Amino acid sequence: MPITTVPTTPFPDQRPGTSGLRKKTAVFRQPRYLENFLQAIFDTLEPSARALLVIGGDGRFYNREAVQIVLRMAAANGVERVLVGRGGLLSTPAASHLIRAHGAGGGIVLSASHNPGGPNGDFGVKFNGANGGPAAEHVTEAIFKRSRELERYRIFDGGADVDIDRIGAARLGEMQIEIVDPVTDYADLMERLFDFEALRALLGGGEFRLRYDAMHAITGPYAAEIIERRLGAPKGSVVNAVPLPDFGGGHPDPNLTYAHELVEAMRGPAAPDFGAAADGDGDRNMILGRDFFVTPSDSLAVLAANARIVPAFAGGLAGVARSMPTSRAVDRVARRLGIPCYETPTGWKFFGNLLDAGRITICGEESFGTGSNHVREKDGLWAILFWLNVLAVRRQPVADVVRSHWRDYGRDLYTRHDYEALDGSAARELIAALRTALPSLPGRARGTRTVRLADDFRYVDPVDGSESTRQGIRIVFDDEARIVYRLSGTGTEGATLRVYIERPESDPAKQNEDAQSALADLVRAADEIAGIRARTGRTHPDVVT
Ligand code: G1P
Ligand code: ZN
Repeated sequence: MPITTVPTTPFPDQRPGTSGLRKKTAVFRQPRYLENFLQAIFDTLEPSARALLVIGGDGRFYNREAVQIVLRMAAANGVERVLVGRGGLLSTPAASHLIRAHGAGGGIVLSASHNPGGPNGDFGVKFNGANGGPAAEHVTEAIFKRSRELERYRIFDGGADVDIDRIGAARLGEMQIEIVDPVTDYADLMERLFDFEALRALLGGGEFRLRYDAMHAITGPYAAEIIERRLGAPKGSVVNAVPLPDFGGGHPDPNLTYAHELVEAMRGPAAPDFGAAADGDGDRNMILGRDFFVTPSDSLAVLAANARIVPAFAGGLAGVARSMPTSRAVDRVARRLGIPCYETPTGWKFFGNLLDAGRITICGEESFGTGSNHVREKDGLWAILFWLNVLAVRRQPVADVVRSHWRDYGRDLYTRHDYEALDGSAARELIAALRTALPSLPGRARGTRTVRLADDFRYVDPVDGSESTRQGIRIVFDDEARIVYRLSGTGTEGATLRVYIERPESDPAKQNEDAQSALADLVRAADEIAGIRARTGRTHPDVVT
């Protein structure tokens, strides 16, 4: 086989973050950069992953070239067989499903998720394990460690590029390649989980109107197949459906700031009944009703409370989990259902063990991530179909479903403020100063409140006992109001400070207040406690959700 061993030297910055290695596209395109990281993955692969590996990406700029490099290096590193999404495309949840459905030992997913794409945008590489989920921390650490000592990488350089646009079998040296339709298996899975008959009656009935915004990212073809073709929603229900390498110049992050086109379309009496969007690689979701935004934390709680409506969960839930900064709304649902609720650090990888061990069925994060045991990634379209299934049975507007949930369980007024592209050392100093101040905070009064607890979140995985420290500063007051600070682990430019602010409100008369004004005093407290203005020079967050 024409395999070349290419001498290389390590890049010092290949430590995977919250979700794989994410860098500016230009960083990935410099000679040897992608190759080095891939070699570090191949060097740490379990034998089962050598037998079968799933490969695909979110279609962003450089995806096609990168897939060819992955294939050539896989062939040179003794991988026996690979499954590749046609065109090099696979949404993150679809990749997770393919790994599980075909018993693959793992997968390489090319994506920078919701970050913008293009030559000046971002690119990313993520390794998933045999359970279909993002590699656990000890694996990503092993990959990082290997990347620091690399002296060579191996690449197959014989023959032409693989034709990744034709379904069917191909070969590269000894390695068998199967190009598969990226949508079919995933759409079939959704059909098994949800009540497609009820959904057809809702979406094809002519009364209910839906707008799904694919943001020119990977879920366009998935949503067109499932929502329009299989469920009969009128053509045009899925908008921005054609995936583009630069996402049409947009920022494929489904939140109130970046999905403003959808937010606008959901305003006023003529707006559709239901609006939804997913992100660049299809694992995030945003849910909107007419003139109504469902916070991801509320969405998780509402879905948990209504889970039995959905065929897949008719038997009930084993347990639920949320990341620490996610509001505590789902905790109260779990309490009422009499099931456990786990609090994990930020990042989907922490749900993997709980899902594998059957301790939880549904989980979610405040960052527009919701999912279940059907795959080991968060899943945007799944959450949207879940909501539609609930609406198809309850026949109520989105806003009514959420408001009645609040009345029943109480509401968590919630907001997240992001300060992006901060000077890295200023941001790190801010967190370090908070850490130092932690012991002095409990008992301290602030307006009408007193600090009850102040710590740096530490998690011990109940399944394997592994410990993760320094997962975010929590300040909880005596009325259960809470402020959380952490630095993003996915940003590619400077540092991003995330501040999560919330308080529970059990009085139905006060539950319809606007979150920003209802939380204004806590927002001020968050600034004063951490010295955000003073330390960063910023007077306003860049993104408010
Ligand atoms: C962000 C979100 C986190 C999510 C991750 C990957 O990470 O906050 O919940 O799991 O993206 O989608 P962060 O940038 O905060 O580290
Ligand atoms: Zn994503």
